[in-house]
This record gives sequence, structure tokens and C-alpha cells, in this order.
Amino acid sequence: MKTFNDLITPEMKTIAVVCNQWGDTGKGKFVDYIAQHWADIIARGTGGDNAGHTVILNDQEHIFHLLPSSILHDKDGKINIIGSGVVIYPKTLCDEIKLLLKKGFSLNNLQISLRAKLTLPTHILQDRLKESLAGKEGGEKIGTTGKGITPTYLNHVGRSGLIMNDLLNTNIFIEKIKKHLREVRVSLKGYDLQLIREILNHDHLENGIYFSETDIINEDTLISQYLKYAKELDPFIRDTDSFLRSMAGKKNILLEGAQGHLLSIDYGTYPYVTSSDCTVPGLAKGVGLKESCVDLELGIIKGFCMSKVGEGPFPTEHGGKKSEEWCRKSGRKALERQLFSSGRADINSPDPFLQGIAIRVIGEEYGSTTGRPRRIGWLDLPLLRHAFKTSHKNLILTKLDILSGVKKIKVCYAYRYKGVIYRFGEKRIQKGDVLRTAISDANFLKDCEPLFKVFPGWEEDISGVRDYQNLPLNLRKILDYLTEETGAKNKVISVGPKPEQTIIV
Ligand code: IMP
Repeated sequence: MKTFNDLITPEMKTIAVVCNQWGDTGKGKFVDYIAQHWADIIARGTGGDNAGHTVILNDQEHIFHLLPSSILHDKDGKINIIGSGVVIYPKTLCDEIKLLLKKGFSLNNLQISLRAKLTLPTHILQDRLKESLAGKEGGEKIGTTGKGITPTYLNHVGRSGLIMNDLLNTNIFIEKIKKHLREVRVSLKGYDLQLIREILNHDHLENGIYFSETDIINEDTLISQYLKYAKELDPFIRDTDSFLRSMAGKKNILLEGAQGHLLSIDYGTYPYVTSSDCTVPGLAKGVGLKESCVDLELGIIKGFCMSKVGEGPFPTEHGGKKSEEWCRKSGRKALERQLFSSGRADINSPDPFLQGIAIRVIGEEYGSTTGRPRRIGWLDLPLLRHAFKTSHKNLILTKLDILSGVKKIKVCYAYRYKGVIYRFGEKRIQKGDVLRTAISDANFLKDCEPLFKVFPGWEEDISGVRDYQNLPLNLRKILDYLTEETGAKNKVISVGPKPEQTIIV
């Protein structure tokens, strides 16, 4: 039986674990595993508390949004870093830190980049205002997590954002906040004050403490609250970029991706993306390293299915538009479980919408950040080939165990285009054309019909399998097809949430 050590040579010093789909592929399990068995330093470099990493330690489930998922191993002297490309909402981070301290973790080895971007309540307000008005006012609803991610990054590229280091310099911080609020108040003029109050009343925004009837945002409260957070975070704020550069090539460094390739601002299914570059180059830059420092890149995909939260085209979705509409609402879990246990939704339902519900229930596919049902679909090779244009082909396949018992497994090998002529640089794509590689533009993808190859599934429960040769033949045939079609190197297969439920190929 191969072990993880068979994947890594002694020369490898930096490993990156990213996702090649729309996120939620179970990175936490692998980051945690590699952190525990190999890494000295673990660093996050992109995204913010829009991410949710679930880690199981001693049968206890932990969900983190900002802390690197390896934080639970801090007793082993491993250093955990939140890098400069990350956006930080101090409330979330302080809550996570306090919770872990209460559980007896020391957090002595946590470092937060002084260049990480600071999310303010105003960013969350702007995010939620935009989303709640989109649709009503013709804007584009993205289905964001409502964590203020885009407004924080926008503020940064607009050259008036704040960074963690500002929290350590009170005068600079106050000056920047005052300037920020002057700008925000102008941009919020004309918005319904009642709606603003409602949004700010949310517990994520500390139940209305930032609202001001006269000034929209209460400047004094914002400053005093953030200075309180500054005190709590001060011991962790460091020049992590310089530290990581000094360690590159010497210590074992694990870079932990957030979200996924198809959500990348640069390569994802635009505009239904997040605002950071979730690929390896983005991740490396987000911790102050060069992409060339990365010796091994592991990209995760779900085994033979995909999931997506939020809006946007998803060609292989089980149940198409009906599923998209259904998954907009959180709080579906109990009803879906009932549909599943009563047998109305079954993994072999002829209605793909119901089949999607059954797979969602078995795979526990509900957002760890928003609780929304994740839209479920078959594995889409055109999108994977697109991801492979800019990423390595070493794959970790997760959640294969949830498809046991599905009689027919479909894999989308190409699209048939159904829309009006679409120009892609010098190429002209017209109705009826068959494409093997996706174009990451939502305007194009919405008109793509998936073409499927259908494989017989497998009956066996594979959650106890530890050796590749013991996987059912039908499953291995699909893995071979994946390799033939995309050049993927299937390196690791996950057959359950626990660390030991892993097969190294
Ligand atoms: P934002 O990152 O909150 O701005 O959301 C932009 C898009 O990315 C939305 O479709 C979100 O549902 C999606 N998204 C953001 N973070 C995650 C994640 O960790 N997993 C899956 N989808 C995410």
C-alpha cells in the first residue's frame, strides 16, 4: 500500500493544494493531512471568510473560515500563516481565535500578514446592498457569501484600502477610517436608510452597532471596536512575506488554496467568480512567494461530480434551471433529507433534479459558510481542460464514496454550442459546434449543452478500500477515461472524510 510519502521526494520543499472546480471539494482534509505529516509552515494566500474548511480531528468536526485548517496542529510547533493576499474581517478571526483558545489550543504559532487586507463593516454592507438590489435594479446577482470580499479588494485596488498594519498605528488607522467613511457616505447617498439599517442589524455585523441615523455609519463605534480588535490581533501581526521568502527552499511549506480555479477572478467563470485569484500563481503571490517556488501542485476535484454555490451557468447541473432556482434558498436541508428518506429523491431517480437532491444529501453538500444547498452536476471535462491550461494535472479526487450505488455515471466530455456566433479572439464559434475545452465566460457557457459518455457505476461500498487495485473495476475504468481525455494524473483518491480514508495511487 502506498503512503503519502510516495508522492513527495526529499527535494520538494513547497507544496500547494488548490481546487480545480468551484470550491468545496474537501481541501481541508488534505491540507490537514499534509500539514500533520509533512509541513513545517502552512500558509493561506487568498480569499477571506467566504471560505469554509471542515476538518475532522479526533472525531470532532471543526469549521474554519479564516484560520488555516492546520491550526489544530499548533502544538507540534508548526507555523500557520494568513498571508498578505487574504482579506480579514477581524470579528470572524477574533471569534475563531477565542473559540480555539477556549478549547485549549495555544495559537502560539499563528502569524497574520501585516499586508493582509482589512474588511470593514462598510464592505459587508456594500456587498449585501448590491446583492439585495441586484435583479430589482437590473444589476447582476452573483450569489456572494455576503462577507464583503469584493468591496474589500476593490478598496485595495482603488488605493484607499486598509491593511492589518494600519491597526498597529492608531493615528494612521483613524485618519484612514475617516477618509474611508467620507467616501462611503457619498457612495451610499440615495440608498434606502431602512434597508441599510436592516443589513447592519445582522449579527455578523454585530447587531446594528455600526448604524447611525444621521451619518449612516457611526464613526466612533467603528474606530473603538476596531481598536479593540487591534489589541487582540496585535500579537499575531508580522511581516510574513519576508518570513516565508527566508524559509522557501529550507523548510517544508504547504500553501493552502481557498475557493477554486473556476471561481478565480482571472481564470474563473466570469463574472460568477470571487475577487481573488484562487490558482497557484495567485496563491503563491498571496503569501509573498513566486510561483516557481512551488515544487508540487495538487489540484482537487470531486470524483465524477461537481458542485457550485451561487449564480451562474453550470452546464452539467442535475435538474438544470430547476435546481439553480431551488438552491438559491438556504434552509433546504431538513426537507431534502425527508425527500431522501422517504425515497422520493433517490440516487437513481430518473428525474435528474431528484437525483441531484439525493447526491446532495448523501454527500452533505451544504455550504459551510452560508448553509445554501450546493448545486450538483456531473464531472465536466471541458471545464477541467480549461483549468489544466493554467494548472498542473496532479489530481486529488474526493468524495468518490458518495456515488456508490449510482447505476449510471455520466461524464461530460464536450459541449455542443447552441447560441449565436461567439467570437473568442480569432476563433468564431457557431451554433452546432462541438467544443472540448470550455471558455470561462458565463455568456458563452450559458449556451453550452453537455455531451455525455455514460459509464456503468459500481455497487460496492468503497469507504473501507485503501488500495487502488481494490477499487471496483468500473470505477477504475472511469479514472482511466479521465486520464485519457485530459492527461490528468490521478494521484490521490479520497473515499471518506477521515484522514485514513485515502488511497495514494
Ligand atoms: P464572494 O466570494 O462572497 O464574493 O462570492 C462570489 C462567488 O464565489 C459566489 O458564487 C460564492 O458562492 C462563491 N464562493 C465564494 N467562496 C466560496 C467557497 O469557499 N466555496 C464555494 N463557493 C464560494
